[in-house]
Amino acid sequence: MLPPATADPISAKSFGSGVVVCAADAYADPSVEVIHGDCRDVMPLLPEGVFDACVCDPPYGLHVADWDQDVPAVEVWREVLRLLKPGAVLVAFAARRLYDVLGWRVRQAGFEVKDQAIWMYRGGRAPSLCHLLPAHDPILIARAPGKPIPINVDEARIPWLNEEDKKQASRINPLRAAGRRRPVYHESLNAYGHEAFVANDLGRYPTTVLATDDVLGSMSHIFVVPKVRNAKAHVSAKPVELMTQIVKVFVPKGGVVLDPYAGSGPVGEAARLTGRKAVLIEMTRAA
Ligand SMILES: C[S@@+](CC[C@H](N)C(=O)[O-])C[C@H]1O[C@@H](n2cnc3c(N)ncnc32)[C@H](O)[C@@H]1O
Repeated sequence: MLPPATADPISAKSFGSGVVVCAADAYADPSVEVIHGDCRDVMPLLPEGVFDACVCDPPYGLHVADWDQDVPAVEVWREVLRLLKPGAVLVAFAARRLYDVLGWRVRQAGFEVKDQAIWMYRGGRAPSLCHLLPAHDPILIARAPGKPIPINVDEARIPWLNEEDKKQASRINPLRAAGRRRPVYHESLNAYGHEAFVANDLGRYPTTVLATDDVLGSMSHIFVVPKVRNAKAHVSAKPVELMTQIVKVFVPKGGVVLDPYAGSGPVGEAARLTGRKAVLIEMTRAA
């Protein structure tokens, strides 16, 4: 399916200058294919309608590196759309101040913007005293036209913090649960009082907020992942656990996810860990 001259097994030496984020045993995994090249050249070579989702962390357009001069153009997203199956999801990280540009370009390409999630973190730096301290990045969620592919709720539930947390959430709300004979979770009733399977024994329904672990006290509806604590990490490294949750939610089990801006490859690692396949495109080779 892919041009053999550019296809390489994933390798710690494949990206940036000595960047290492993925677990060592991911590198030879046949379920993750890495194509070195500019995604604008590579994507037109791939067949249409083969991917179950696109999860990516594209250039934000903030000039933090040579490759970060602009938000990807409408043509890029049009090409992503061509490669996706009908109804498949596009998940793309964005800069707070250029989220609107990304959204507009994705819409112009033919996607329907469906939602927004956020990734909360600490350690951001305010560019000047005229700015707030950055503490989150928005995540755009869009869909290709066609029958929507359902998300994988049970696989991606937010684990209960502990037994007490679960007990609290499962106390019967007498008003909303009127007439029920069995305990139900507070959160398993939607706004109209109908059971919506928002919470069950496996955990809470996945929400639009994801966070790294240095952010919180006990905000139990938030999916929490460890911060990247690796001095050699990619300049825009996203934690593998963050991408794993996103892949779990949006990529059907056994499906294939595309990441045209792979960086150090956390989407590939997430796919490998969760029984999906991935095709990664990255233009920067190891020094
Ligand atoms: C924001 S970084 C992704 C970082 C990644 N999330 C990680 O955790 O390592 C974007 C990546 O896209 C790559 N890139 C930028 N423009 C590209 C293009 N046109 N084709 C392929 N890769 C590109 C850059 O080299 C960079 O590694």
